[in-house]
Amino acid sequence: QNMHVQIVKDPAAGGVAGFKVFQQALAAGAKVFGLATGSTPISIYDQLTASDLDFSQLTSINLDEYVGLGSDHPQSYRYFMQHHLFNAKPFAHSYVPDGLNTDADTETKRYESIIAANPIDLQLLGLGRNGHVGFNEPGTAPQSTTHKVALTPSTIAANARFFDNADEVPRYAYSMGIGTILKAKQILIVAYGAEKAAAVAAMLQGPVTADVPASFLQTHPNVTVILDEQAASQL
Ligand code: GLP
Repeated sequence: QNMHVQIVKDPAAGGVAGFKVFQQALAAGAKVFGLATGSTPISIYDQLTASDLDFSQLTSINLDEYVGLGSDHPQSYRYFMQHHLFNAKPFAHSYVPDGLNTDADTETKRYESIIAANPIDLQLLGLGRNGHVGFNEPGTAPQSTTHKVALTPSTIAANARFFDNADEVPRYAYSMGIGTILKAKQILIVAYGAEKAAAVAAMLQGPVTADVPASFLQTHPNVTVILDEQAASQL
């Protein structure tokens, strides 16, 4: 089996388990970490921040960013990363797509060439309720590279609570593609809560299909899956 599943009691325990995966990757010589936003990775970032691990010679590359938001916007993913990890644990280089670059073709090619020059050793992922990874919504091809995504109405609605009103929620994002993600040497995907249980079961036990982008992880040789008991409840 290429998918190593660990079931933990709660997100705090998941933070400790995820931290160990980072620690082992570092010990094995990992130099480039693919990072993610959302609520799921926060307990891992808390453990990394509290640790004595040193990332100052390493590189991080984030999965995605909203088009239109700059690093000073509190809802941008760059801002999130500064706040939850980089201020406390700086990397030598931290890449996040440039949401203020409105030329999608230039920006996505630039980002893809950064990844090609810095192959990702360990990619951290959260899981969307509909099985999305990054901003790769259902229907995204397994060969996809970094691209501009039109956010689905449900994603816009889900994120509206973070903005003053729904009109301010960005309509587009830049996201690594499925193909980009699958090139990482190792993948760590984490999911918590009953609302993720169906997506978790489809990811691990369902057919490999674009209907569930996370199911493409079944084709990757080295995936660690950390779940809490509720997210594992449909396995
Ligand atoms: C957003 C992000 C994903 C994230 C997902 C789930 O769509 N682009 O990278 O995995 O939300 O977020 P949460 O971890 O808050 O459940």
